[in-house]
Amino acid sequence: MEIVRTVRELRTRLAREPRVACVPTMGNIHEGHLRLVRIAQQHAPFTVTTIFVNRLQFIQGEDFEKYPRTFEDDCAKLEAAGCDLVFHPDEAEMYPEPQLFYVEPPAVANKLEGRFRPGHFRGVATVVLKLFNTVQPQVAVFGKKDYQQIHIVRAMVSQFALPLQIVEAETYRATDGLALSSRNRYLTADERREAPRLHEALSQVKAAVESGDRNFEALEFAADALLARHGWHVDYVVVRSRRTLMQPEPGEKELVALGAARLGATRLIDNLEILSP
Ligand code: PAF
Repeated sequence: MEIVRTVRELRTRLAREPRVACVPTMGNIHEGHLRLVRIAQQHAPFTVTTIFVNRLQFIQGEDFEKYPRTFEDDCAKLEAAGCDLVFHPDEAEMYPEPQLFYVEPPAVANKLEGRFRPGHFRGVATVVLKLFNTVQPQVAVFGKKDYQQIHIVRAMVSQFALPLQIVEAETYRATDGLALSSRNRYLTADERREAPRLHEALSQVKAAVESGDRNFEALEFAADALLARHGWHVDYVVVRSRRTLMQPEPGEKELVALGAARLGATRLIDNLEILSP
């Protein structure tokens, strides 16, 4: 597996590859990322994983400094999964001068995660556009765990007519239901035992809606109460339209339950798609 750290070297190397699939990550590679790599391999003969912890998407007081950086270990896992190339620029390479141009995402970026992490999606969209311009892949693979992120990236690709296909991958879960995330490593042993309850709360909402209950507010309230009873601090549990991430229209069937809550010092997010009858 090749490791490339500069844009110039990357461009030269990729000029030989007619079709590239890219998996953008911030590293701390786990099985969820490796699944994305395997999906990428089904879409192109050459797979690039990018590893870059993007300062622009962390808001003040978040874990930018302590975000796990495990490059050696990441490379071993990616190589074993058959990834062809890792692009690992440092900050000076990605942002050689202060970034003055940003991708300004639409209003949906200020809802849900954006309400609690103002500016987060502006930072995500900006770095993703920059990574797309750098790698110039034909395909990019994103996990559905970051549901709002994928929604915004898809819209950006469509609105800017970027010449690549976005492939969405199902969330990879531990056997107890917890969605895999680099931030799970912040959980204490007790918190790790409690953590699957976010998935459980969303599953209850999904089951109720799929059996015909459209009293979303009551279902959201019950999920919130379940989590609060077990010591969580809930930012939101909501049912939204999959198409817009806004309140569902009457009778709209393709929905998604989205949740974000803090357990001790760790903030977890998760979602479940719902098909209402
Ligand atoms: O999902 C992530 O890991 C990041 O938000 C991404 C897409 C790599 C941009 O930094």
